[in-house]
Amino acid sequence: MRKIAVLTSGGDAPGMNAVLRAVVRRGIFKELDVYGVRNGYDGLMSGDFIHMDLGSVGDIIHRGGTILRSARSKKFKTIEGQEQALLNLKKYAIDGLIVIGGDGSFRGAKDLTLQGFPTIGIPGTIDNDISGTDYTIGFDTAVNTVIEAIDKIRDTASSHERTYVIEVMGRDAGDIALWSGMCAGAESIIIPEDGYDIDDVIERIQQGYKRGKTHSIIVVAEGVCRGIDIGKLIEGKTGFETRVTVLGHLQRGGSPTAYDRMVGSQMGAKAVDLLLEGQKGVMIGWNKGQLSYMPFEDAARDKHTIDLSVYHLARSLSN
Ligand code: ADP
Ligand code: F6P
Repeated sequence: MRKIAVLTSGGDAPGMNAVLRAVVRRGIFKELDVYGVRNGYDGLMSGDFIHMDLGSVGDIIHRGGTILRSARSKKFKTIEGQEQALLNLKKYAIDGLIVIGGDGSFRGAKDLTLQGFPTIGIPGTIDNDISGTDYTIGFDTAVNTVIEAIDKIRDTASSHERTYVIEVMGRDAGDIALWSGMCAGAESIIIPEDGYDIDDVIERIQQGYKRGKTHSIIVVAEGVCRGIDIGKLIEGKTGFETRVTVLGHLQRGGSPTAYDRMVGSQMGAKAVDLLLEGQKGVMIGWNKGQLSYMPFEDAARDKHTIDLSVYHLARSLSN
């Protein structure tokens, strides 16, 4: 292993830059030549490779987004697209590839490994929705962003005695909703991993007002339905003045938290070490507070789950 490449793919996540910095610096420390591929798999197919030196990743550990930029690329799902990518990897004499992204990106990375190209995955997505790892880079920053937003909304919700519905991201997973709802003291949290009953949500709002609460916060994961639909139902059935906020892509930006920088730095360095050990077709994980790794197919086999006991606890604490 003399030359390695790294790319970021799928939705960007705060902390991806910390991972990139670790990959590049660990690689150079281990006397490897390191290339960055711009625009995810698109850049792999078009040959958008740049040589990375120590300075190329300076001053980025605290920045959100990804300096290599990211993309979702339909063409890479095809055999032709992957063959084009393999030709470019050969042209640059790359021996191993590190892919930072979500489960879609890992399906692409697995395909490359099956075609004989050593590839390692690092989980980077705000959704925390990858099975096989307790943590994905970007999640902590996104949750903190959501909490800060809800804290602000709570101020105005109290002043006007309103009900607020906050729609958060997470794709099909409820992790962002659960964590932000718990930590911001939401009255109800609606997640795809559990059914919800709108009458129960309303009853909890009514009980709260009865005992003197001045506002209600309902957090809805985008994987369940649109926040606006929940807002309309609540207002229609109760007449309570209700407002809806869709936090959207602001959840994907911002300076990464210490946790994202710390875990990201360790994952980035580990990926380089694994390539040097001859590992391929594996995803790095963070389990019980420690680095781990497992074959892509093992990680993909199980469905990502959520800790429902935390969900039930959040419900009992916000009565
Ligand atoms: P994420 O990695 O965040 O889950 P996507 O699902 O958009 O994001 O996947 C990122 C990219 O990974 C896709 O745009 C595509 O290029 C590649 N990819 C996704 N699924 C596959 C697949 N089944 N086979 C090959 N490549 C895939
Ligand atoms: O996977 C990250 C994520 O932000 C999801 O939470 C969301 O559903 C999706 O990406 C949004 O994708 P896009 O940036 O393409 O609109």
